[in-house]
Formats: sequence, C-alpha cells, structure tokens
Amino acid sequence: MHEADQFIAEFQKFFASAITKRSYNNRLQEALLYATMNGGKRTRPNLCYFFAYSFNPTIDIQQVLYTAGALEALHCYSLVHDDLPAMDNDDLRRGLATVHKKYSEATAILVGDALQTLSFQLLSCSSFDCDDAIKVKLIQILSYASGAQGMVNGQFLDMHLDPAFDKKNIDDIALMHQQKTGNLISASCQMGYMLTGYNNLALHEDIKKIGNLIGRIFQIQDDILDVTQTTQVLGKTAGKDIALEKSTIISLLGLEQAQKLLQTLVTELYEIINALPVNVDVLKCYLSLIMLRQH
Ligand code: IPE
Ligand code: IPE
Ligand code: MG
Ligand code: MG
Ligand code: MG
Repeated sequence: MHEADQFIAEFQKFFASAITKRSYNNRLQEALLYATMNGGKRTRPNLCYFFAYSFNPTIDIQQVLYTAGALEALHCYSLVHDDLPAMDNDDLRRGLATVHKKYSEATAILVGDALQTLSFQLLSCSSFDCDDAIKVKLIQILSYASGAQGMVNGQFLDMHLDPAFDKKNIDDIALMHQQKTGNLISASCQMGYMLTGYNNLALHEDIKKIGNLIGRIFQIQDDILDVTQTTQVLGKTAGKDIALEKSTIISLLGLEQAQKLLQTLVTELYEIINALPVNVDVLKCYLSLIMLRQH
C-alpha cells in the first residue's frame, strides 16, 4: 500500500475511535459517527499529511493523526452547522440526509458543538506525542483559523449578516471565501509543517500563503461545481447557491470569468510551491487531484 493510502486508512480508524472513546451517550455517539464517518474527501487531513511529509519524508503517520483528526472534526462541525435550516437549509450532505434531517435540529447543533470541542481535546491530550510548545502553537493556529477572525466571520459574511459586505465587490467576496474556507485549509497546511519541528518564519509565511491560495481555489471550485455538477455527483443539492441567492464568485463574475480567475490563482500557487526548498513532487501529485475534483 502506498504511504498516502496507508495514511487515510489509519486516519479512518483513528478518527472513528477518537469519537467512540470520547462520547458518553449511544444515541449521541451514533449521530457523531453519522456526521463524520460518511465519505468526506478528507482534504484537510490529507493536506496536513502531505505538508508534514514534504518537510519530513520519514515522519511517522501516528504523529500526524491527532492533528489531522482535529482538522477534520472542526470541518465536520462546520458542515453540520452550515446545513442547518437557519443557515443553508440543506437536506443532503455527502450523499446522505443531513444530520438535522436524519436526527433533529437540536442534535445537529449539539453534534457540531461536540465536534468543535473534540478538535481541541485531540490537540491538547497527553496521548498526542508532541512537544507542549508545538501543541500550543497548533491550538493557536486552529483557533484563529476557525473563530471570529476566520471561519465564523466568513460564514457571517456568507449569510449576509454584515451590512458593510458588498456582494458586488471582488475583494469582499475574496475575503469571505478566504475566511469561511481558506483559513481552515491554510491551517491544515501550516499545522502539517509545524509537526515536523521546522521553525523558520519565512517558510511558515510561504506555507500560509500557499494554504490561503489552495483555500480560495477550493471555494471557487465549490461555487463552480454548484452550477456545473449534478446532485448525484456532488452528494449535496446542486444549484443551491442560486436558489438561496448567495453571493458567490459565479454571481459576481459569471462562470467563464470565474474559471479564468481559478486558472490565474492555480498558476500563482504553483509558482510559490515550486520555490519551496524541499521536494514537492508528492505534494503536487495530491494537489493535482484537488485541481481535478468533480465534487
Ligand atoms: C465542503 O467542503 C465545504 C467547503 C468548505 C467548500 P469539502 O468539499 O471538503 O467537503 P467534504 O469534506 O469532502 O464532504
Ligand atoms: C461552506 O461553504 C463553508 C463552511 C462550511 C465553513 P458552502 O455553504 O458553500 O459549502 P457547501 O456547498 O454547503 O458544502
Ligand atoms: Mg454555506
Ligand atoms: Mg452550504
Ligand atoms: Mg457551496
């Protein structure tokens, strides 16, 4: 088995057991497993792994699992809350009924809450074999990326809750994309790098930039796929952004210009990646899969 496949196989086992170990009530545990072990692409754990691997090709997979688990738990919480009736009101996620549809709204809120705290339990727990100073740094990166300076503010803008947000302004849309999606993706890259013990500020800044670009690209793709792909392939309701009158890159620029912007950002991304002082072949191989994604 290739190491990357081995990582994901180990990750699936680790993630399921992290949840079963830390939940008290069987019905809640069932809902937590439903929200997490349901066929997500695991993009954030993979990015964490491939960045760790690029800076230390001999890194032990076990060392990456806690951080990867924290990232995916945070991401799954964001999806469960994003789908709630008060937000995007979605019935379908990863090809299955959304958590509030399958269980109840209260269950979905609590599942999200539990997954968010699970993230920080994983990063701070004593069985995570990592220097305390690095653990604190990881917690800092994840909390900044996901809180009111990051993902939560991005979701706030996405929900049109800020009267200052201008949906006809490309910078406002870019900021919303960056915050709601890009920051967690960038955190995934940065946290993988941090695990290798490297402590080079300039390099860290480059990785932040790379992560931000991957994040913006990822959300632009998400907006494009919403209008170009079927519900069956997406595993979520196609055409939902238009139905909800969301501000997306498509509503601002139209499909053709959005695809052009995507290509410009991809070119910019590879320029910075190719300048990294390590072998990036394996990382680029994984990124090419993201660039071709259909869901
Ligand atoms: C969907 O994320 C929401 C966005 C941030 C665009 P993913 O496309 O990573 O969803 P899963 O985890 O594969 O289901
Ligand atoms: C979701 O953006 C971003 C977060 C969950 C933080 P979207 O609302 O576009 O994601 P999908 O399309 O429902 O997956
Ligand atoms: Mg949304
Ligand atoms: Mg949504
Ligand atoms: Mg979307």
